[in-house]
Amino acid sequence: MSIDLAFDREHIWHPYTSMINPLPVYPVVAAEGCELIMDDGKRLIDGTASWWSAAHGYRHPELDKAATDQLQQMAHVMFGGITHPQAIELCKQLIDITPAPLSKVFLADSGSIAVEVALKIALQYWQGKGKPDKTELISLRKGYHGDTFATMAVCDPVDSMHSMFQRLLPQHHFLPAPDSPFHQPYRPDSIEPLRQLLQQRHQQIAALILEPIVQGYGGMRFYHPDYLKACRQLCDEFDVILIADEIATGFGRTGQLFACNHANIAPDIMCLGKALTGGYMTMAATLCNDKLATGVSQSDAGGLMHGPTFMANPLACAVANASVRLIRQNHWPAQVAAIEAQLTEQLEACRAGEGVKDVRVLGAIGVIEMTKPVQVAALQKLFVEQGVWIRPFNHLIYVMPPFTISQAQLSRLTAAMRLAVGVS
Ligand SMILES: Cc1ncc(COP(=O)(O)O)c(C=O)c1O
Repeated sequence: MSIDLAFDREHIWHPYTSMINPLPVYPVVAAEGCELIMDDGKRLIDGTASWWSAAHGYRHPELDKAATDQLQQMAHVMFGGITHPQAIELCKQLIDITPAPLSKVFLADSGSIAVEVALKIALQYWQGKGKPDKTELISLRKGYHGDTFATMAVCDPVDSMHSMFQRLLPQHHFLPAPDSPFHQPYRPDSIEPLRQLLQQRHQQIAALILEPIVQGYGGMRFYHPDYLKACRQLCDEFDVILIADEIATGFGRTGQLFACNHANIAPDIMCLGKALTGGYMTMAATLCNDKLATGVSQSDAGGLMHGPTFMANPLACAVANASVRLIRQNHWPAQVAAIEAQLTEQLEACRAGEGVKDVRVLGAIGVIEMTKPVQVAALQKLFVEQGVWIRPFNHLIYVMPPFTISQAQLSRLTAAMRLAVGVS
């Protein structure tokens, strides 16, 4: 298949890219297993799982079948005043596998929208409870929750790609990024800024939103479960809602089914996305507990004020059902543990690499942090020449491959990463 790259360059926006000086794009015409297939037939081993989503690899027979079977029924139907079996099965499955208090599900159409819905639930809840002054949000520096306006307002205000919009965004509270790393002893003083802020402003604060355990776009930082546990305790103490954005971390990626499980806590609201459909199509979910759902329903609006056209799209629900069923077959813990062990062993040498600041691994995530921002285009070219697909950004060269990756394929990824930092 010939691909019109000139048209692409001239007319199509790619993520976070300039129209006058775009980064190169690579033509991919198919994908199967853990490989992307380019227009000239060259295969690239995928180190990205298409940005955390393709947990089971590409063209998985059960996911393909779920999609084609559903097409024989209906691709889509509106969700206002209508329900359908795939949505019901999916919500049952999500309630079954997420922490127990989460019992109500909103099926959104992307991760950013799932976070928007979470924020609306939190704000509407306090209105319903007769506490309309509770409108302020707390977030963490280095946090990332999406690209829409409400989500940009809870992303790191300085150190994120959204800083240019700051004047237009509602101003919320930002805590220092958690400075107690996952693999080191917990530093209890890291939670003090949250305690102090809540002591001062809990009457105005609606919710704390965070990415549990792994701060992704903000630096692939892994923080200590006790920090998350302390957040839960303080939210309880000061009557503040805890929102866990598990869009990147959900479904086993960090070595636990949900990152919250590392701390054995249940949030009041949980956002899921990305791997929810095994990376097949866009769909996300926002779950909350009974207390919040009741409070929202008692607000003046009488219901949750959100309802996108493609809410609970049956095709996406069908594939998500198949993907969650695969997760529930429970092959992922051994797969993720094997990936973790192999990444740990094979990336260790990178510590000696030129310009390397840190090397860290958690679950099926392997990160090399550099002291300076990387040259994305040059590195990407090197990786493609090596037959691998790794997408570095900022100071980071990192992989989060499909869980189904073979040992040999993963070795190719880590060899390319070692080459990128000049060690063999
Ligand atoms: C933690 C987190 N939240 C929200 C989002 C936004 O999801 P989406 O890109 O589907 O809108 C992302 C995407 O990378 C994410 O990593």
